[in-house]
Amino acid sequence: MKKEVSVDDGTDAFSGFPVVLCSVGGEKDNIITLALCHVFSFKPALVGIGVSPKRFSYGLLRKSEDFAVNIPTRRQLEAVQVCGSKSGRRVDKFKAAGLTREKASKISSPLVAECPVSLECVKVKEVETGDHVWFVGEVVAARREESYDKADMLLYWGDYRVIGEKLG
Ligand SMILES: Cc1cc2nc3c(=O)[nH]c(=O)nc-3n(C[C@H](O)[C@H](O)[C@H](O)COP(=O)(O)O)c2cc1C
Repeated sequence: MKKEVSVDDGTDAFSGFPVVLCSVGGEKDNIITLALCHVFSFKPALVGIGVSPKRFSYGLLRKSEDFAVNIPTRRQLEAVQVCGSKSGRRVDKFKAAGLTREKASKISSPLVAECPVSLECVKVKEVETGDHVWFVGEVVAARREESYDKADMLLYWGDYRVIGEKLG
């Protein structure tokens, strides 16, 4: 039998959301770790990221015409934690996290070379939703390592996880 719980305990029930590293250009480029990332449309291919206005990256994303969604794996966990705890206001996160800028083909924001998947997104919409703003971008180019295995992708919701059993 289900019992009534707090709203926080209710929303805490999700096992995890995909962890991405969003890189964005500008007078100072930056990387931010995000768990709020979702596909909003297949045709056109639209991907959204939810960013709090408190983040340094928020101002960069407002100004930029594009951003990149890079998918890290368990091998980049340390870099994910650095990009999700330090602020680009004070540090160069590429340097602090030991990550390398990679030139994108269709956008001006840099990609993260160490991530096995990078999606180049052109901003098409900004949607305010409570305490986060969703930046929705059209994926105009994508790169993916041949050896990329989804089972290594990180999920986060309170704890870091990777996906479990394949059921179908
Ligand atoms: C696993 C993880 C997921 C996160 N997800 C989000 C998110 O979806 N949206 C957000 O605004 N901040 C999120 N954060 C917090 C930012 O990454 C963090 O505040 C970061 O230091 C902001 O960097 P900036 O000041 O350079 O923009 C997350 C942090 C971690 C560690």
